[in-house]
Amino acid sequence: MSDVLIHFEDAVLTHTLNRAHKKNAFTQEMYVGLAQSLRDAQDRSEVRVVIIQAHETIFSAGNDIADFLSAEGFGLDSPVIDFLQTLASFQKPVIASVCGPAVGIGSSMLLHCDLVVAGDNAAFSLPFVNLGLCPEAASSLLLPQLMGYHRAAEALLLGEPFMAEAALEVGWVNKVVVPSEANMVAKAWALKLAAKPLEALIQTKALMKSPQALAVKAVIEQEAMVFARMLKEAPAQEAFSAFLEHRKPDFSKQRT
Ligand code: COA
Repeated sequence: MSDVLIHFEDAVLTHTLNRAHKKNAFTQEMYVGLAQSLRDAQDRSEVRVVIIQAHETIFSAGNDIADFLSAEGFGLDSPVIDFLQTLASFQKPVIASVCGPAVGIGSSMLLHCDLVVAGDNAAFSLPFVNLGLCPEAASSLLLPQLMGYHRAAEALLLGEPFMAEAALEVGWVNKVVVPSEANMVAKAWALKLAAKPLEALIQTKALMKSPQALAVKAVIEQEAMVFARMLKEAPAQEAFSAFLEHRKPDFSKQRT
């Protein structure tokens, strides 16, 4: 079965992350599938709204750490950057439904979704520094804008999770509900949006996004170049090996 289930109904294209045994960690194949599906959704006039969701206990553990360890395929032309740029420039409304942990790109991608509903068990974290890495998905630009510099520093430097209520308070999500209701709320919003004039939605979204669309694109690229370099360096390699070996990382012997 596919790691991303795609279902079209009532003008809504729903993507369900479906790699539960690895906590929905994103593989290169999943980025390729999601980016292609978004491009199709852009072109298909019958698709009016997109949903990205998962299960009641886990949204995503972020990028697959085994893929990180190989450090191949994270350049500007990589599937992950293609997915992020496609999502960031996607014209129709995108709704995310998030329950349980949303780690790394599982959290940062939400900055490019229009509406986010969270289960009260959601935990949003961007532990890039803990992994010897830097932010991605333009989170270094968008997070300080969203919540102010100091709260963003809490997320990006301390790398500790924001629980659902804290995420609601800073505007990272729109609504918090019990986990069993999150995907239903997403679908209800989607149906409301799908009943509205599509061109009015597209133009309104474009007007909100266009003032800094070029900056977002450029920051995604700038972050990707630093990220790709840091992936190969000793602190990141130690962090990935430690995760896969179920031990704490030891950064004490490293210069950087
Ligand atoms: N990449 C690859 N495999 C991952 C993964 C990831 N990002 N996250 C979890 N997994 C795998 C685990 O290795 C484990 O596999 P195994 O059963 O073959 O040993 C399985 O998924 C279950 O993970 P586990 O850690 O036991 O689940 P948990 O419920 O205790 O914790 C998380 C869930 C998401 C909190 C935890 O898995 C985690 O912190 N993952 C890493 C997140 C991360 O640092 N991502 C990179 C962000 S840039």
